[in-house]
Amino acid sequence: MTDPKLIDGKAFAENLRARLARQTAALKAEHGLIPGLAAVLVGNDPASEVYVRSKGKATKEAGMNSFEHRLPATAGEAELLELVRLLNADPAVHGILVQLPLPKQIREAAVIDAIDPAKDVDGFHVVNAGKLATGGEGMVPCTPLGCLMLLKDRLGDLSGKRAIVLGRSNIVGKPMAQLLLRESCTVTIAHSRTRDLAAECRRAEIVVAAVGKAEMVKGDWIGEGATVIDVGINRIPAPAPDNPGKTRLVGDVAFAEAKPRAAGITPVPGGIGPMTIACLLANTLTAACRQRGVPVPG
Ligand code: GUN
Repeated sequence: MTDPKLIDGKAFAENLRARLARQTAALKAEHGLIPGLAAVLVGNDPASEVYVRSKGKATKEAGMNSFEHRLPATAGEAELLELVRLLNADPAVHGILVQLPLPKQIREAAVIDAIDPAKDVDGFHVVNAGKLATGGEGMVPCTPLGCLMLLKDRLGDLSGKRAIVLGRSNIVGKPMAQLLLRESCTVTIAHSRTRDLAAECRRAEIVVAAVGKAEMVKGDWIGEGATVIDVGINRIPAPAPDNPGKTRLVGDVAFAEAKPRAAGITPVPGGIGPMTIACLLANTLTAACRQRGVPVPG
């Protein structure tokens, strides 16, 4: 028996990926359309290599086309912008993802700005951020989109619920807050300067933690019956008596303390991580349909 309090992002993501694979097969059969995702990796940061490889694998498993482009760590901004220009113009490429972070000599904002907003499957372009904020139909960043899917699956209608988002990054915190607002939640965005964070958190029925600090959110910060979404993926030393040098993954929430108070909580790993990749595939399929003018499958 699975624990009813656990929000199983891994299982949800597997179902979503299976559905996207069926929809991709139907698009191919009915419209001759194969969604294509181009991933660009500059340099050889080991974590980014792992992400890009697993994104490519998932793309192919869904039956989509995966294009991988690699540039050396010494590549200049102009070289990357030229590649983005080529990908924008390529009709086989429906989604473009430039893996972040980029080497120091390249301005991330300039690169994101250069991506065609219709192909911006990360949802980072200012046009897509603006559409999300103003109620338009753009591309939504993958991690917050995955969090929202899990929340709606668990809670149904979110309207009127008090939600707190811990963290104000452009990639997670801000778009997450916009998505919750769109669902008619009452949203608080908390950050490093927030006074009495514990009390703010305790009032919330929905807690989304995206601060990147291992186990920062303590058990008594969680209100009785709250639903907790933990976006953090932090590597910390494993406790003795494990081998020295070993590490383990923990979230931004002190899971063992928080779980008894929560009605539902995502684990780390196996919570939001798998949802991000599944949502990237969903965005690629959506982008392909919109570009071709065929209905986006439900
Ligand atoms: N680096 C870490 N997360 C992400 C992501 O979601 N998209 C991109 N492009 N780079 C990242």
